Amino acid sequence: MSGVTYKQRYEWFQQVAQLIQQGTTSVAPGQALALLKPRSRMPHVDPRSALIETYVTAPRQRPAQHLQAPQSSLLVQVESPNSSYVAKLTAAPVAKGRSTASLAASAATLAELKAVMEGFEDCPLKAMATNIVFGDGNPKAPIMFVGEAPGAEEDKQGKPFVGLSGQLLDRMMAAIGLDRSTAYITNMIAWRPPGNRQPSSQELLQCLPFVQRHIELVAPKILILVGGVAAKTLLSRSDGIMRMRGTWHDYMTSGLQTPVATTALFHPAYLLRSPGQKKEAWRDMQMIQDKLRSMEAQSYARS
Ligand code: URA
Repeated sequence: MSGVTYKQRYEWFQQVAQLIQQGTTSVAPGQALALLKPRSRMPHVDPRSALIETYVTAPRQRPAQHLQAPQSSLLVQVESPNSSYVAKLTAAPVAKGRSTASLAASAATLAELKAVMEGFEDCPLKAMATNIVFGDGNPKAPIMFVGEAPGAEEDKQGKPFVGLSGQLLDRMMAAIGLDRSTAYITNMIAWRPPGNRQPSSQELLQCLPFVQRHIELVAPKILILVGGVAAKTLLSRSDGIMRMRGTWHDYMTSGLQTPVATTALFHPAYLLRSPGQKKEAWRDMQMIQDKLRSMEAQSYARS
């Protein structure tokens, strides 16, 4: 609820409480609802929907004083898009009880994927994070980078790779003429692991369908796995980064039309600790540039 004032929360609560009184939602008795964000602040969400969180309130007390931590989230479809919040609601749980695989599969666009991830409450990392770190850059770009997980600065800004290692990644990309208008960036995990620890295998597995769907929806021509964690998890390999970098692999899932040319890069955080490896990383970047150029030449020849 960052950035949400107490007054806003109370007003939204009242609006939705009215709807509950009209008997238009399927929310269990003993629970009250608060609107997470007004729809005007969610341009990425279908205008007929709003993301709300349920809050347990004590009976007979002024609800706004007793809002507790969110218990679950619901994606609510408002049938009449023009009459704000009025009209029937059909509430469908988007969090508890639904696997990340089925949630991810239900997203037909990046905006929908972000919305289901924002409504997902079963990942303990989410409860500790300040912001979701979904993605940054141009989703229509031919090249997509996938890192590991947000750090402190990414968590604060809600954007991937904006801290020290992000600045190095930006320089590596710039060296081959790329920036965030010509590339797209995301992470294996959208919420910061506390203390910048590595995500556990359980966390990686739980979030895997989200990142797989993310890749399917961007459908890049070239996929760059930044660091060993992303490379091992997405390529299902036990090899270390040393064996996976410097060469091309095919990445394929059922929602992709064709395999994506994929390689791994040393994580910039590793390069900051081991600058002696920068020469190898430069070679990797040149290999990526060659691939981009040959793909551009091929599509030019076809057009
Ligand atoms: N490291 C990552 O893997 N991702 C980020 O977004 C930042 C640091």
